[in-house]
Amino acid sequence: MRKVGVSFLSSKNIKKDLERISNSKADYIHVDVADGKFVKEKHLPFKSLERYSNLYQKRLDVHLMVQKPKAFIDSYATLNVEYITVHVELKEDLLELIDQIKQYGIKAGLSVNPKTDIELIYPYLDEVSQVLVMCVEPGRGGQVHIDMSDKVKALKEEIGSRNVIIAVDGGINNENVSLYDDADLIISGSYVLGSDDLNSRIGELR
Ligand code: DX5
Ligand code: ZN
Repeated sequence: MRKVGVSFLSSKNIKKDLERISNSKADYIHVDVADGKFVKEKHLPFKSLERYSNLYQKRLDVHLMVQKPKAFIDSYATLNVEYITVHVELKEDLLELIDQIKQYGIKAGLSVNPKTDIELIYPYLDEVSQVLVMCVEPGRGGQVHIDMSDKVKALKEEIGSRNVIIAVDGGINNENVSLYDDADLIISGSYVLGSDDLNSRIGELR
């Protein structure tokens, strides 16, 4: 059964939403980190995650929307993290960043923006565990979904038998999730947290 990660990027009360996600059937807490440089928004939840770490047992799926990920990787690696994902659009040595993540025993991911050609990811498919396909321009939650189903289908084909999961992220809800039968991990923020009954929304996305 495919997995669901819940993003709290749009949260007005991180403590409350961490509790809500932790008490739900979500597989991951999707942690968006934005530095105000790679994306114009800033969202730096590290201190909240440290302070409220007693509130959640779920594994973290960290999405670094940052220009210089090295220091972020070192700090987030101290938390209960399963994936750390950086953007293929970076001007950094991606193999070096992937190795830095893996040295912590954490699975490495690469994310690709809507306008970026999916073939940029292909040379790294033997090195990563997750490809995060963005269905909105990164930085903000609550945006209108952009159909990335052709990109996901091409990526699924290219991955072949490799042990790499496809995640989709951005504006995902019960209507458009059916575009992504090839996705292994569905990331949703507003749609899931917009309801009092997280588990019914999560169930619709599986
Ligand atoms: C956008 C983030 C997404 C976003 C998902 O930059 O990477 O994780 O918060 O939230 P919704 O589902 O509201 O688009
Ligand atoms: Zn994200």
